[in-house]
Amino acid sequence: MKYFIINGPNLNLLGTREPGIYGARSFDDYLAELRAQYPTVELAYFQSNHEGALIDKLHEVGFTADGIILNAGAYTHTSVALHDAIRAIAAPVIEVHISNVHQREEFRHRSLLSAACRGVICGFGLDSYRLAVEAMLASGK
Ligand code: DQA
Repeated sequence: MKYFIINGPNLNLLGTREPGIYGARSFDDYLAELRAQYPTVELAYFQSNHEGALIDKLHEVGFTADGIILNAGAYTHTSVALHDAIRAIAAPVIEVHISNVHQREEFRHRSLLSAACRGVICGFGLDSYRLAVEAMLASGK
């Protein structure tokens, strides 16, 4: 199994960015633990602060990866282009959020991506990514 984890804007600052919401751990640190937990699964990783780069990456890996775990950050709430990119590719995409966006500001309650995704996991901290790997494995993808 080869899954791609794709993180969007500001998620490169995990560990220092609003630790009360997103925790104090860097994503690199978490990813090393996640990879160790799933030695038979290849977990590739990409992060960008640029909407177009995220779309290019979805196009690039979206026909060969077995699944994509996407935290599009704030683009979740704004990007029709990402919605279209998810619909345009073959790989199933699970939308992930570290925080429970529904407990936060109203502008975070709406996702433009969810309807194009296989499912959504949010609110479990960094463990949301592991739960997405589990969901991907359980769906046989
Ligand atoms: C986030 C939630 C988004 O609303 C926010 O813009 C992010 C992170 C999360 O993982 O909780 O950048 O996607």
